[in-house]
Amino acid sequence: MTTDMKRAPERFGKVALLMGGQSAEREISLRSGRMVHESLRRLGVAVEAIDPDATLLERLRSGGYDRAFIILHGRGGEDGQIQGTLSTLGLPYTGSGVLGSALGMDKYRCKLVWLGCGLPTADFVLLRDEGDLSSAVALGFPLMIKPVHEGSSLGMARVDSVADLERAWRAAAAFDPLVLAERWIQGPEFTCAILGREALPLIRLETPHVFYDYEAKYSADTTRYHCPSGLDAEVEGRLRALALRAFEVVGASGWGRVDLMLDASGQPFLLEINTVPGMTDHSLVPMAARAAGIDFDDLVWRILETSL
Ligand SMILES: Nc1ncnc2c1ncn2[C@@H]1O[C@H](COP(=O)(O)OP(=O)(O)OP(=O)(O)O)[C@@H](O)[C@H]1O
Ligand SMILES: [Mg+2]
Repeated sequence: MTTDMKRAPERFGKVALLMGGQSAEREISLRSGRMVHESLRRLGVAVEAIDPDATLLERLRSGGYDRAFIILHGRGGEDGQIQGTLSTLGLPYTGSGVLGSALGMDKYRCKLVWLGCGLPTADFVLLRDEGDLSSAVALGFPLMIKPVHEGSSLGMARVDSVADLERAWRAAAAFDPLVLAERWIQGPEFTCAILGREALPLIRLETPHVFYDYEAKYSADTTRYHCPSGLDAEVEGRLRALALRAFEVVGASGWGRVDLMLDASGQPFLLEINTVPGMTDHSLVPMAARAAGIDFDDLVWRILETSL
């Protein structure tokens, strides 16, 4: 911790740490929240954890809070709803505002904005109902099937044939009536943490699984994280700049993460952005921050500063 950071935790006032929530990623949010809670206490910040439910508005109004630290993942917390609620109450909060949060949560519209700006992302079709499956077939196999508004790889599957397509679509649709079919990208995968207006060192993810699925993310011990990424400096610089632009162009700000892949020819494809990424001890943003010389408490402090 720098001396500057020791200076004045009081300037943040009383912080509501919003963690848990009702999304499919509740458990991860609770894990992230516990880490952030401990860190804020170490930093001397006055913090109270709140697990949002129907009484949230009342608790925020009567709790005497000065700001909120949002560590809710997924729908309801990462998608602009909480951000709108806090804005209405006049409470500053960490990270992206309503627009960036909402677009970041919507993989379909996020891709539309990127394409509109000439940023590269895998070809896709939107599957609204069974009638759209034929256009997915027309994209060509393999395909990645994913719910539009989910995270943690939930409801996702690689599909190699028409026979598998309908089953995968139904499984994804159980999470979200809107489903994306994307052309499969074969090549290395990276994630780029964003802090303030800076792109942190890329992490290259390697898993023996078919893709970076839920187990590979949270429980498998076979996932490898390479940071530094192993790319040459020029390529790394270009990908970091691409990630930062992809993040900012959808209105995201403060902190977050951009996922991307390279195909066999080295051409980049943006996958998605996360406006409230994981902050568990295994999470990627803390890992990238560490590589940039920013320890967990420094990182939490700097995220809290995005609410000022
Ligand atoms: N078009 C694609 N081709 C190949 N693999 C893909 C493709 N899209 C996604 N993947 C794989 O699936 C994983 C999850 O995809 P994505 O990042 O879009 O979903 P997510 O569930 O929102 O992730 P997060 O937990 O980061 O929020 C990626 O990390 C990657 O391994
Ligand atoms: Mg992802």
